[in-house]
Amino acid sequence: MSDLLAVSPAVPVRLPSPHLVDAAVLDRSLVEALLQSAARMQSIVDGGTTPLRGRILASLFFEASTRTRLSFESAMLRLGGQVISVQDALTSSSATKGESLEDTIRVVAGYADVIVLRHPEIGAADRAARVSSCPVINAGDGAGHHPTQALLDLFTIRAELGRLHSLRVGMSGDLKHGRTVRSLALMLSLFSDVELVFVSAPSLRMDAAILAELQRRRVPVTETIDLRSVAPTLDVLYQTRLQKERLPSPDAAHGLDLPIVNAALMRLLPPHAILMHPLPRVGEIAPEVDADARAAYFRQARNGLLVRMAVLHWLAGGR
Ligand code: NCD
Repeated sequence: MSDLLAVSPAVPVRLPSPHLVDAAVLDRSLVEALLQSAARMQSIVDGGTTPLRGRILASLFFEASTRTRLSFESAMLRLGGQVISVQDALTSSSATKGESLEDTIRVVAGYADVIVLRHPEIGAADRAARVSSCPVINAGDGAGHHPTQALLDLFTIRAELGRLHSLRVGMSGDLKHGRTVRSLALMLSLFSDVELVFVSAPSLRMDAAILAELQRRRVPVTETIDLRSVAPTLDVLYQTRLQKERLPSPDAAHGLDLPIVNAALMRLLPPHAILMHPLPRVGEIAPEVDADARAAYFRQARNGLLVRMAVLHWLAGGR
């Protein structure tokens, strides 16, 4: 029994529930617990047990997605739950009629036990969480945060390298508009002896508020425009695409060519290091790199299923 308060058997009232909106709710012990839970999820996939039987996930995507939506929906189905989904909510939900996000969430929370929300505006998931009677999971809010991506990135680093401490992690590409790198930088800062190297053009630098927070947490940070010079020093290279959809105009992309990871760049990366990417890639990792054992991005995407199973089990289970 937990957050269900039975006023009468027919009218349950939910007490406030936890949400996963940004890295702030995730302290080190919760991250560890979720990563351990994710590691156990393969046995549920294999064994076909159904701990979330009778639970419903609503996935509300106001922005394009392949991996995040399908892995969340697959995760819920693998756990024995069910899914209701608005795939293209900007055009096919009542948002087209002018309904506010808050009203949509109030209504959908009455149909589901957990909501996964992707939205183009920074802060949308936080607004949703404030009015939702069921847990809200942020599946990306504009250039804001993407906490479950950061969790699956941590899971991947640990699976590939065996640790989350004593690491030098390079993040490259569009650090200004990329939400995955923001969430990952903050989540990595929970672990000891982690150094971050931000590689970007000056106009695509990591957000100043994140840099300030990392400084406050005493995380060593290096910023550079030269991927080749830092590649030999890294344990992890996390490459990202230019977020064209977040630029003020299509013309703004001119001259913003990101460094490309190709076979020549991979020769500079240490033999033990891994190459990650949240995907989709659009040219910033050459296909020739896929055959390199250090290319971890497809394994990383697959880990999303296990990590999202753990997150759903945490937020939608036990009621
Ligand atoms: C990322 C996102 O949506 O922020 N994709 C994902 O969820 N794996 C990265 C991106 O779109 O560039």
